[in-house]
Amino acid sequence: MYRSHTNGELRASHINTEVTLSGWVQKSRDKGFMIWVDLRDRYGITQLIFDAERTPTDMMEKAKSLGREFVIQVTGTVIERESKNAKMATGDIELLVSKLEILNEAKLPPFTIEDETDGGEELRMKYRYLDIRRNPVKNNLIFRHKVAMEVRKYLSDQEFIEVETPYLIKSTPEGARDFVVPSRMNEGQFYALPQSPQTFKQLLMVGGMDKYFQIVKCFRDEDLRADRQPEFTQIDCEMAFVKQEDILNVFEGLTRHLLKEINGVEIEKFPRMLYDDAMRIYGNDKPDIRFGMEFGELNEITQHKEFKVFNDAELVVGIAVPGGATYTRKEIDKLIDWVRRPQVGALGMVYVKCNADGSFKSSVDKFYDQEDLKNWAEKTGAKAGDLICILSGATTKVRAQLSALRMELAERLGLRDPKVFAPLWVIDFPLLELDEETGHYHAMHHPFTSPKPGQLELLATNPGEVKANAYDLVMNGNEIGGGSIRIHDKQIQATMLKHLGFSDEEAKAQFGFLMDAFEYGAPPHGGLAFGLDRLVAILGGQETIRDFIAFPKNNSGRDVMIDAPAPLNNEQLKELSLQLDIKA
Ligand code: AMO
Repeated sequence: MYRSHTNGELRASHINTEVTLSGWVQKSRDKGFMIWVDLRDRYGITQLIFDAERTPTDMMEKAKSLGREFVIQVTGTVIERESKNAKMATGDIELLVSKLEILNEAKLPPFTIEDETDGGEELRMKYRYLDIRRNPVKNNLIFRHKVAMEVRKYLSDQEFIEVETPYLIKSTPEGARDFVVPSRMNEGQFYALPQSPQTFKQLLMVGGMDKYFQIVKCFRDEDLRADRQPEFTQIDCEMAFVKQEDILNVFEGLTRHLLKEINGVEIEKFPRMLYDDAMRIYGNDKPDIRFGMEFGELNEITQHKEFKVFNDAELVVGIAVPGGATYTRKEIDKLIDWVRRPQVGALGMVYVKCNADGSFKSSVDKFYDQEDLKNWAEKTGAKAGDLICILSGATTKVRAQLSALRMELAERLGLRDPKVFAPLWVIDFPLLELDEETGHYHAMHHPFTSPKPGQLELLATNPGEVKANAYDLVMNGNEIGGGSIRIHDKQIQATMLKHLGFSDEEAKAQFGFLMDAFEYGAPPHGGLAFGLDRLVAILGGQETIRDFIAFPKNNSGRDVMIDAPAPLNNEQLKELSLQLDIKA
């Protein structure tokens, strides 16, 4: 038996009992005649004591040799601590050791394994197994497990069945590039790793499974950010015989359950916002509604004077920054520099200070009078003491820029409290999105999403206007899930693919299996997928999903611990019928 108790378990009630513990040496303090060792495992820390008066000399010597992260096993008697530590769960006791065994020695770790570490990101990723010993990472993994458990419990109780779908498949378009796997047995042919199990879950509906879910890995070769990994996990769900309303209700129920069980937060009904409104009011399809600072569109009340910048703009739009009237000239200049950074891309920013005495001072006083500025304040909801920030230009760009500024200011003002949860549904997404570079439309969600009833005809004449039965679940400014009601009619699916630029042959080659299935009694169906990594991070009060993944990739898509991706040797390349490296 390696241990009778864990290192987080012993209390005053255990005093005078003999126990055996195992774990890692967090640190030791050697006072010569007395040695204290902090012994750590997943459950906590227990203080060990070796005492020259009561401990044999050879064991004292062995205790002195213990280095950080040595793996040891000890047996001893639980005794009352002289100086108790109220901050530790085991702080009332210590273990007077009678037997010490070193199970494995350890090299000095490359960073300190404590809550506050001196290890940089890259180093911690290289030695991720050491990083996982630290509370912040360990606790995040345990937290993730709890969320996944609750998801399985809730959905199983509602009669959802978890079904596994294959990883070696054919491309499923979700808007990213595929990771591909060469097939040894089929020379020159490749599998694609799923960007999601989308087509399979639809086939499960044709198969009569009715309520499906899966906690599943998805793979997307796309540019990485704090909320994106090349392999990530979805809670993928699909239901048959449902309308959009049914889906929203079921998965709002799941989200509400998680907020209650995991965070102890009860939220009544999630608000619903039209996509068009989200874009108009927040400049963004995943608005953070924990705070206001809503957009005020100012075209009508700014384009009547000689200020050319505004007059030429498609959109003039502003937000009120609470308390911003006290910003100094220098602070405002810094804000202007911020919006002009290439990542944001604004050309400039007009501002209005709403003074405490009810007067206004703006950067465009040359063009506008107090009455004008008062109207702007009204439109942006600015009160005395606020600062109005105004951007202008092409609608899509300006909305994105002002949205970035809104989020940045909210962060600086402490309005993005991670303990507050503000979920909402964004609904009625456009079916198609124009790719500015190619001039072609592509599916905004995916090609299997159904248009709103009666809008199919619009596809030919006004494709950009067609709305879809598609929805996103947004929380605290993050898209944590998305889905749609699907097309279940072969003819409509074929029409849709045609509009997306697929020839009949291409459509048949890529999606023939799905359209064939639609001819064998496909029920009406729909679903959604949560991003589990994002959901867990947000519920955990953070936004970087890497911190909730045991072995994540870095921003270049590399696993620096195992050093992947890596070249294959010629033998393997040959077997896979891939080009040989002639030079080697
Ligand atoms: P979608 O592409 O919107 O929908 O993905 C669903 C959710 O998955 C998460 N997500 C990611 N998380 C981490 N890293 C990534 N690279 C990444 N990409 C997406 C997001 C997103 O909301 N098959 C459809 C779902 C459906 O229609 O039912 C789909 O995959 O939180």
